[in-house]
Amino acid sequence: MAEFKLPSNSRIKKGKHFPANDDAKNVKRFVVYRYDPDLANNPRMDTFDIDMDDCGPMILDVLIKIKNEIDPTLTFRRSCREGICGSCAMNINGGNTLACTIAASGINGDTKIYPLPHMPVIKDLVPDLTNFYAQYASIKPWLQNKTNPPHDSERIQSKTEQEKIDEPAACILCACCSTSCPSYWWNSDRYLGPAALLASYRWLVDSRDDAQEERLDELEDSFRLYRCHTIMNCTNTCPKGLNPAEAIANTKKMLIERRT
Ligand code: SF4
Ligand code: SF4
Ligand code: FES
Repeated sequence: MAEFKLPSNSRIKKGKHFPANDDAKNVKRFVVYRYDPDLANNPRMDTFDIDMDDCGPMILDVLIKIKNEIDPTLTFRRSCREGICGSCAMNINGGNTLACTIAASGINGDTKIYPLPHMPVIKDLVPDLTNFYAQYASIKPWLQNKTNPPHDSERIQSKTEQEKIDEPAACILCACCSTSCPSYWWNSDRYLGPAALLASYRWLVDSRDDAQEERLDELEDSFRLYRCHTIMNCTNTCPKGLNPAEAIANTKKMLIERRT
């Protein structure tokens, strides 16, 4: 019989509560997922009441304040705090996004913060992205061209050719899209997911690359590409405003066109 309940050691428990100082006047509540695989405990949700008059404005600022001043064991990734590196991707009030680009003041009520969904958790807000990066590597994200470049110049593109790769090349590999995709949740061992497929498309439409046929051969597979069912979560959630769903649809079109 199908088991619809999580195993008892996976159920999320209520965690600790860290109240704000009595004199705090501008308090917001943040409820944060905590899990340490080295301890035998279940995951828990800790509650932190933060005085926003004494904290930077973004969700990442809140997490840094918690780590620096309240609980140094809180674990999360971050680097640029400018929406460029993609490392602070997490699920904030139900949406995958970058913690450094979301202002706490824009959220009404409590803020619930979880790691990116449906990924193994290394600790707290840090998901294991090993498979995600392996899938990215599998699409060969580099220029393939059997001819030597001109000895006195770069490989030149026209403005129109360059504009084709402009948007897909802006992906920061944050994984917000792939981890919002139901097809990826259930088949991430075989389905490449929107981030890797957007990267693949970036090379498929690069006028300097001459491996288009081999790249398309690799994608002609009922799982690697065709597990996309155009649900659009990926495009709706991308914090950089990119459109992986369209790139996937265009890739499918390229495969159809080369058959005819
Ligand atoms: S397409 Fe958007 S959401 Fe997906 S990895 Fe790239 S930047 Fe992140
Ligand atoms: S459009 Fe495709 S890749 Fe994007 S969320 Fe839907 S199924 Fe996933
Ligand atoms: S810290 Fe780099 S994108 Fe948020």
